[in-house]
Amino acid sequence: MRPPDRIYTERFLLRRFARKDADAILEAVEASLPDLAEWLPWAHDNYTKDDAIAYVRDSSQSWKEGRAYDFAIRSPNEPGRHLGNMSVWHVSRLGKVGEIGYWVRSDATSQGIATETAAAMLDLGFSTLGMHKITLRIAVGNDASDRVAQKLGFTREGILREELKVNGKWLDHTLYSMLEQEFQRIRQSTLN
Ligand SMILES: CC(C)(COP(=O)(O)OP(=O)(O)OC[C@H]1O[C@@H](n2cnc3c(N)ncnc32)[C@H](O)[C@@H]1OP(=O)(O)O)[C@@H](O)C(=O)NCCC(=O)NCCS
Repeated sequence: MRPPDRIYTERFLLRRFARKDADAILEAVEASLPDLAEWLPWAHDNYTKDDAIAYVRDSSQSWKEGRAYDFAIRSPNEPGRHLGNMSVWHVSRLGKVGEIGYWVRSDATSQGIATETAAAMLDLGFSTLGMHKITLRIAVGNDASDRVAQKLGFTREGILREELKVNGKWLDHTLYSMLEQEFQRIRQSTLN
């Protein structure tokens, strides 16, 4: 099944990117650069509107091909302000493995945005995209993201050595995962 273009969580709207989003993405990236650049290789000092346009174009292509689903995080009260990105993608269709990734603009962190919207990605991955296992790779030292993984109920599997080069430095990453039955159990316990 294909994901819907819009997903509503309790407080936020997750929606597919459109070309007109480039300015809002650029504004959010520029306002968050020191925090993003610490952990994400695409976030660099010379990030321009062309990068944002290329992101939207690639994102739209991946969506069409059914490879990856990127969502803009917005508040229904302030739909023009880009709060961050939330994505889920296929890692192995045969193995039914997916992965999620995210970032939240710096002046909106610690309000539960990543946790609430990543939970919607888990639901999408398990309930709509048929995934059995969803992973999350977090650089060692990224304590805020570790906390998101913990709050969502992910299990820590181990360390991936020098998984990604960021700002010229190879970073070890913690591999987290959640299985479909674990997600259903967590969901059931929050409903009760
Ligand atoms: C990591 C990130 C997505 C978290 O987004 P967020 O919307 O603030 O996440 P949440 O509010 O749902 O949860 C963050 C938790 O980390 C805690 N936290 C924040 N900074 C922290 C720090 N330096 N050390 C430990 N915990 C921290 C918050 O208090 C919160 O926990 P709590 O709810 O128990 O109080 C955001 O900080 C970010 O985009 N960082 C830069 C890019 C990035 O790291 N992306 C993820 C790559 S895996």
